[in-house]
Amino acid sequence: MPEYDLIQFTGMVLDQVRRQAYARAIVACVNADSVVLDLGAGPGLFTLLAAARGARVVYAVDLLDIVEAVPELAERNGFGNRVQVLRGDIRDLVLPERPDVVISDLRGVLPIHGDHLEVMAYVNEHVVRPGGVLIPRQDRLHVALVAMPTEHGEVGAAWKEPGLDLGPIRDLALATPHRVILHGPEVVSTTRVWDTIDYHQPKELRRRRWGSTGDVTATASGVAHGLACWFATSLVGDVGFTTAPSPDHQTYGHWLLPFVDPLPIGAGEVVEVRADVSLVGAEPIWRWSAQAAGGVRAATSLDSLPVSAGRLRGLAIETEASVPYVPELEMHLEMLQGAHDGRPIAEIAAPLRERWPNHFTSPEIAVGAVERFIDRYRTRTRQDADLVARAEP
Ligand SMILES: C[S@@+](CC[C@H](N)C(=O)[O-])C[C@H]1O[C@@H](n2cnc3c(N)ncnc32)[C@H](O)[C@@H]1O
Repeated sequence: MPEYDLIQFTGMVLDQVRRQAYARAIVACVNADSVVLDLGAGPGLFTLLAAARGARVVYAVDLLDIVEAVPELAERNGFGNRVQVLRGDIRDLVLPERPDVVISDLRGVLPIHGDHLEVMAYVNEHVVRPGGVLIPRQDRLHVALVAMPTEHGEVGAAWKEPGLDLGPIRDLALATPHRVILHGPEVVSTTRVWDTIDYHQPKELRRRRWGSTGDVTATASGVAHGLACWFATSLVGDVGFTTAPSPDHQTYGHWLLPFVDPLPIGAGEVVEVRADVSLVGAEPIWRWSAQAAGGVRAATSLDSLPVSAGRLRGLAIETEASVPYVPELEMHLEMLQGAHDGRPIAEIAAPLRERWPNHFTSPEIAVGAVERFIDRYRTRTRQDADLVARAEP
């Protein structure tokens, strides 16, 4: 679970491009009838904007205790009776009603971040009212070649020591994906969209692999030091924004897939680029490459280095054996066993809370999680009974 402090939340709201686009999306979707969920509300700016727009009720949900600051803010602004705060993972909470607008930004540098997409699949299936609005609606992932001579030089120089050969660790450092801040001039090619995330498609959101291969055109002659990734979001209708490199303050930054050896490019040259990420549990394994002159000049991720073998082996095991260890699976087994034994919900919840105190942070959250989980089966049983009744002559 990512931990953010108030300074990081401040950095997020300082990003004016993001802030104004979300504010416009809220104005476009929220009216006096709206039931709104601000998912991952943090200190609650979007909650207050939705309440100011007149929403009938806004549920502010977050894993972190910062969300407990929201009631006082709501009270001060005259929204105290229309804002409700719930702390915990949305997948463990039961809202009193299904929201018809869900506002969220659980992304990191990119939308493929921790369990973000899994959470949004769950929100589709269990939280938002059918036909409701999700903000954002869609994210498109972009990639381009970038020149970053200073960064490349510094990383390489860090792993040099007279009289010692640090080659493998130097190469691995030079090939490790990481966050950078780009301002625009670093980009030395056209961009291409390497994948699209549609937040209304739960099945798609559960894909374990994202990526594609395609062409970009070099816009300058020189060398490229890697591929940079960012995204463009459509929040609602034509309201959206891009995190493309720019001189303005940006909270997200950019994801660099670096090349160990810089790739020579000529202006106008077509370069085939691949950006690809596989999710092993919530961990992303990146693969990337760029090929110029029909593959005569190429740069790739370091799949063959021994140091990275552990990670790649992990990927192979996951593909073959398919189910990694998931604590939720164990929690659900315990809940099912308790229900099967006929124990009351509070009695099933108490040992869960004892065993996973960080997950079930209060008795109410534990009870809520058990209730919601068992309710899925109740709903299913009711649906089955309806089907049987309808099938009977
Ligand atoms: C990037 S911050 C966004 C904060 C605020 N909405 C904003 O845009 O300024 C994401 C927030 O989502 C919360 N979060 C992430 N996953 C969550 C989940 N499954 N349930 C509830 N909150 C979650 C995090 O704790 C964090 O505070």
